[in-house]
Amino acid sequence: MRDVIVAANWKMHTTPADAGDLAVTIAARTRVAGVTRVICPPFVCLAGVRDALATADPEVAVGAQNVHHELAGAHTGEIAAPMLVGLATWVIVGHSERRRDAGETDAIIGRKLGRVVDAGLRPILCVGEQLAEREDGRAVAVVEDQLRGALADHEPERLAAAGMVIAYEPVWAIGTGRNATGADAAAMAEAIRAALAGLGWSDGGDGVPVLYGGSVTSVNIGEFLSEASIDGALVGGASLKPDEMAGIVARAGLTAAARGLAA
Ligand code: PGA
Repeated sequence: MRDVIVAANWKMHTTPADAGDLAVTIAARTRVAGVTRVICPPFVCLAGVRDALATADPEVAVGAQNVHHELAGAHTGEIAAPMLVGLATWVIVGHSERRRDAGETDAIIGRKLGRVVDAGLRPILCVGEQLAEREDGRAVAVVEDQLRGALADHEPERLAAAGMVIAYEPVWAIGTGRNATGADAAAMAEAIRAALAGLGWSDGGDGVPVLYGGSVTSVNIGEFLSEASIDGALVGGASLKPDEMAGIVARAGLTAAARGLAA
């Protein structure tokens, strides 16, 4: 059975002065059997969140929101994967805000994925279409292209062994309060696994957790988690609110229990 995962993407919020306390508050409100919890604060808050959780709740994992595609070198202001070792165990790659703000291409994202895996970290690869692409009926084709572009040079076995997770995040749903339907997200999760099968994944991508992201709240999380092909959520805005996280993870716990993960 695939893991049930709730990952918090804090984006450019919190400071080293307050991130640890927020992480501890969220950890205390989300202690639910069988759910894998991940908190991804800004780089400068990683150490504080790691230290705070080490005492309060070591079961909550810490993730980074990005990583550079080179190992080291003259890249002012960037962070390489080996630098994250000891600070984080997960890394988000290919978030649509980075595709938009930093011009990240699928090829660059594929290289980042390799660095994450080489460093022994667990990647969350984000994919998702723009509104116009969905309206044109091209959502699946766009996501397939993103997967092919990022995954083509990687051995499926290596990515599977690293525990790669895919987050389907339709761009038009991120931060807009407008979420996809559970049925649309489930259909895309199935298309994602079919694409993995086409890329040579021997299990047809069956073991790869697929999360939904895009305006997830404690109110709509049930719509996604009642779909068997969806394994959790990547949560942005609501992940900064302990009440919201408590509701989201509580609902994820029901799915974990139904899957026999909660024992
Ligand atoms: P949102 O962000 O929940 O605020 O829509 C999700 C994400 O970008 O990961």
